Amino acid sequence: MKILFFCDPGIDDSLAIMYSILDPEIELVGIVTSYGNVTQDKATATAAYLLKLGGANGIPIIPGASKPVQEEAAPIYPEIHGEDGLGPIEIPPDFQYQVYPFDTIRVLIEQYKDELIIVDTGRSTSLAIAFILYPEYMKMVQSYYIMGGAFFMPGNASPLAEANFYGDPTASNIIVKTAHNLTITPLNVTQHAILTRDMVEAISQNKHNVFASLMLPIFDFYFNFYKKREPSLQGAPIHDLLTMMVVNNPSIVDYINYDATVIENDADAKGMSYIDYRPGSKKGKTKIAVSLHYEEFIKEFNSVMLRE
Ligand code: BDR
Ligand code: CA
Repeated sequence: MKILFFCDPGIDDSLAIMYSILDPEIELVGIVTSYGNVTQDKATATAAYLLKLGGANGIPIIPGASKPVQEEAAPIYPEIHGEDGLGPIEIPPDFQYQVYPFDTIRVLIEQYKDELIIVDTGRSTSLAIAFILYPEYMKMVQSYYIMGGAFFMPGNASPLAEANFYGDPTASNIIVKTAHNLTITPLNVTQHAILTRDMVEAISQNKHNVFASLMLPIFDFYFNFYKKREPSLQGAPIHDLLTMMVVNNPSIVDYINYDATVIENDADAKGMSYIDYRPGSKKGKTKIAVSLHYEEFIKEFNSVMLRE
């Protein structure tokens, strides 16, 4: 499957990049990098660094948005993801890489048409801009998968909002209202996609995995953050990897079909997502994940990350 990946690496986005490089069923055809967990320039360097380590430097990196549509800046989260988005690992300051212009998105859609799948696990700004700039091309894409929103539960970036929708709710609302064949994996499901230290240790010993030596330093950093915030948690959630895995393994989650709305301009509820599920309300076309089959998820995860 051919995937154009919008992301903000960030530890869980980075794991999704590593997984996509290692999974023989996924062909990454491009990566669009935006502000979010870290700044846009750091997210771009991190994605390029991972492609180089993974021997995949031919994949175009396309720098996307560096700020939300309506605001001059957005918060970044080095305390969760590290300064460069890889925990304690720093990208060498002299690391060189090539980037491609934003219009490469249109070129890739033209090239792959309805074979192309778009996955977005970052703030929504870059994907929304693509919908505004290339509406006819975006209709050609086969399907869209996004990580965002928190339904039936509190948020993580604010009491009511999940971080990706909180970062640029105007852009998120454009996506949930415009994208066809849309699947959302929200926080209420991704929070259960827990990676444990035992799993990371096993990967770090797999000499066939080119990312093995990065795993413990990166994830010990990530686990430490979650341990402080939620001491009972036996690991940490890998939101974005679950979103990537759902593309090829749709049965690892269950869905309901509704259309979502993101609240854009409200001091308290900014970025909050909701569906109308009152009795008798109209069902919608968006597939919204509501539960995770954890054993299946782990089995699939290990089949790629522990592959020899
Ligand atoms: C989402 O927010 C980001 O910080 C993570 O990478 C993930 O995409 C979880 O709310
Ligand atoms: Ca992300």
